[in-house]
Amino acid sequence: MKHHIIVRNANASDVPHIYKLLIPFVEKKIILQRDEDNIFQHLQEFLVAECDGKIAGVVCAHIYGKNLAELRSLVVDPEYQKHGIGRLLVEGCEQWVNDLGVAKVFALTYVTGFFTKLGYRVVSKESLPHKVWTVCVHCSRFAHCDEVAVEKKMSDAPIMPMSILPIIEVDE
Ligand SMILES: CC(C)(COP(=O)(O)OP(=O)(O)OC[C@H]1O[C@@H](n2cnc3c(N)ncnc32)[C@H](O)[C@@H]1OP(=O)(O)O)[C@@H](O)C(=O)NCCC(=O)NCCS
Repeated sequence: MKHHIIVRNANASDVPHIYKLLIPFVEKKIILQRDEDNIFQHLQEFLVAECDGKIAGVVCAHIYGKNLAELRSLVVDPEYQKHGIGRLLVEGCEQWVNDLGVAKVFALTYVTGFFTKLGYRVVSKESLPHKVWTVCVHCSRFAHCDEVAVEKKMSDAPIMPMSILPIIEVDE
């Protein structure tokens, strides 16, 4: 069976689905907690992957300045993992960030192998500007953060025109 997957900007009706999708990963402390209000307040930063009409994945890109944006809240529903959805979400964000003229994207992650496969390189956390830690202070692991920092220059990203956000079909 073919699945039809589309990556698009999130809208208000996606918020409860995004919230529900994030919960198990928040509970495992893989991503930072967000309530529905927080998702609404940052809604323009979110992309979702819709698979056969269901929200199967989400990612958020937060811009710090001309030289830096962070990928946050990247999650693919376990039922849909390993079908290329994570890649589509990250590449969709890169495309969007690049269109906005921001030079570099980074993430703090436990899935370093996933990001290096997508062209990211591991960097020291100390190389990131102090302002990126403002949300991390709310994390219970802040004092002993064991996430790895990865980054990618947008000049190294394969860029498609913004009008062509990824749409693919994958086998089950
Ligand atoms: C990490 C995550 C988003 C990946 O999503 P996904 O849809 O399964 O990933 P994709 O299928 O697009 O994988 C793209 C490539 O990365 C590889 N990959 C996926 N997860 C990987 C991992 N944990 N380690 C190493 N490589 C991985 C895939 O094999 C694939 O390689 P290929 O192109 O050679 O086949 C998903 O596993 C997830 O939601 N994990 C839990 C939450 C999380 O850790 N989020 C990251 C927060 S920064």
